[in-house]
Amino acid sequence: MMRAVVISSHDGPSAVRVDDVDVPSGAAHGLVEIDVRASGVSFPELLQTRGLYQDSPPLPFVPGVEAAGTVRSAPEGSGLVPGMPVVAVTGRGGLGQVALAPAAYVFPLPDGLDFAEGAAIPLNFFTAYFAVSLRARMRPGERVLVHGAAGGLGTALCSVARALGGRVTAVVSDQGKAEFAAAAGAENVVLIPEDGDWRAAVMAAEPEGIDIVLDPVGGPRAVDSLRLLRPLGRYVVLGFTAGAITELKVNRLLLRNLDVVGAGWGAYVLADPVAFREVAEGALRLIADGACTPIVGHRFPLEDAPAAFAVLEERRARGKVVVEMP
Ligand SMILES: NC(=O)c1ccc[n+]([C@@H]2O[C@H](COP(=O)([O-])OP(=O)(O)OC[C@H]3O[C@@H](n4cnc5c(N)ncnc54)[C@H](OP(=O)(O)O)[C@@H]3O)[C@@H](O)[C@H]2O)c1
Repeated sequence: MMRAVVISSHDGPSAVRVDDVDVPSGAAHGLVEIDVRASGVSFPELLQTRGLYQDSPPLPFVPGVEAAGTVRSAPEGSGLVPGMPVVAVTGRGGLGQVALAPAAYVFPLPDGLDFAEGAAIPLNFFTAYFAVSLRARMRPGERVLVHGAAGGLGTALCSVARALGGRVTAVVSDQGKAEFAAAAGAENVVLIPEDGDWRAAVMAAEPEGIDIVLDPVGGPRAVDSLRLLRPLGRYVVLGFTAGAITELKVNRLLLRNLDVVGAGWGAYVLADPVAFREVAEGALRLIADGACTPIVGHRFPLEDAPAAFAVLEERRARGKVVVEMP
């Protein structure tokens, strides 16, 4: 048996438990087995506690889309050997002491990072690289606005956009978050004022407007984001932490020839192994070069994992939330 986070109902994060479960076995299916040292916890897993995410497995299940640890066993010819420190996309099951992944989804842990920083890479940095380079088609020197910029995905978006030559303005809701967004690479940080008019503050920071908006928050942010865009600007849809699915009147796109584009990393790369590797290797190159560093803001021991979900639920996440294994 091993210890793992278990979602056994759709009653939200307070119902998440840490329990004994069978050790998964992947060798017979050609999968890599990983002794997990740290796992990322992100908004999608929070949504899974309510059955609100697109991937909603039968109950009970061990969540966890990503993990870092050491190889326990690997298929011959995979280039992976027992004991090797790695980072992996696990899809599910990353929040257990042993997790499985196809060899193509397993990468060496970048030099100089600990396991928690490694666990902060796959979901957010692969998504950020995909969103900035492939979906927004950002060019060096462009002005980029990032919503939710202190969160797990937000810090990765700031970091990747900056590393690829963008000039980043971050929108955040408090001073502590402002420091995380700045550390991630934002040149300008805008605190949402009490009257909610963050757009005026962005215009003061970037009077010539914005070329690209990267938005994991959605809801009412969308319309004001479009108003900030310069001609040929791109508004990139990444998620809906504000709750409401954005609705837009498309006449807003005509006058300045704007694009609204979706950036769903999982939907893109899981259908195409070549695309998966290209995106992952692009992001990992930025990390290996030192241009990007994952920022871990919260570390919880496995037995306290429910508290990690609460951080996300209560809008308290600063940087990546990680659970560390005993
Ligand atoms: N498209 C993709 O491929 C992809 C990949 C990974 C994640 N995502 C999505 O990206 C989003 C962010 O995920 P994450 O793991 O980075 O979450 P996170 O760390 O909790 O960050 C979310 C941010 O959203 C902002 N926010 C605004 N209203 C909120 C509310 N009512 N409740 C919670 N947060 C609120 C917060 O920033 P302020 O307080 O500063 O406003 C917070 O920092 C999620 O929707 C997730 O599903 C998408």
